[in-house]
Amino acid sequence: MQKIIIAIDGYSSCGKSTTAKAVAKHLGFAYIDTGAMYRAVTLYFLQNHVSFTNPKDIQRALEQISIEFRRSAEGRNETYLNGLNVEDEIRKLYIANQVSEVSAIAEVRHAMVEQQRKMGRKRNVVMDGRDIGTVVFPDAELKVFMTADPLIRAQRRQQELFEKGEVLGLEEILANIQKRDLIDTTRQESPLRQASGALLVDTSFMTLDEQIEHICLLADGVRYHKTVSSHV
Ligand code: DC
Repeated sequence: MQKIIIAIDGYSSCGKSTTAKAVAKHLGFAYIDTGAMYRAVTLYFLQNHVSFTNPKDIQRALEQISIEFRRSAEGRNETYLNGLNVEDEIRKLYIANQVSEVSAIAEVRHAMVEQQRKMGRKRNVVMDGRDIGTVVFPDAELKVFMTADPLIRAQRRQQELFEKGEVLGLEEILANIQKRDLIDTTRQESPLRQASGALLVDTSFMTLDEQIEHICLLADGVRYHKTVSSHV
């Protein structure tokens, strides 16, 4: 089979990461959660009091940051910041509240995009984020743009946080989602938008299994087509 890149972009909390992870597992591909990378940078900035507006500070901090993904004994994809497991910490709301601001910084984006291109260069990866199909891998063989109704996304996020022990009101979560949508879509540096050639998938009324199956089928189609056309 020909090797491919699957780029999954879209709004926050519409099931991107869970879907991308499951698709990668099904296909035997690597999975790269680029949102986790921006979250890890945010955590570092907060822990080290890096000013979000001082380019020199930012550049210096970025040089000190090393992000990798390791698989846990249970097969979970976990984020490591400078050798420390930060997977649980970066999912908390105080990080979610700041991450859009950090990910809008040009220096941060340039550093992350460079790393993401290195991580994906061998192909057979599923990468999810906001700018994968538009900036990181515009040549990805399969590009998907995921969306869902904001209220449904807030309900899903509330459930997810609840399962992790964080109890939050729907209104607070909805406000966070709407704020992030606004920053993500209007920022100057690679704003969130549907890449040319990306297929739109609205997950409002889809179960997780349906989302996964849908994207796996699309991937199978692309791989089959590429393999057949490479033999012609
Ligand atoms: O997917 P997520 O919610 O974990 O992403 C966290 C934040 O990072 C989100 O507000 C937008 C930003 N992000 C980005 O700007 N570019 C990416 N490729 C991935 C995430």
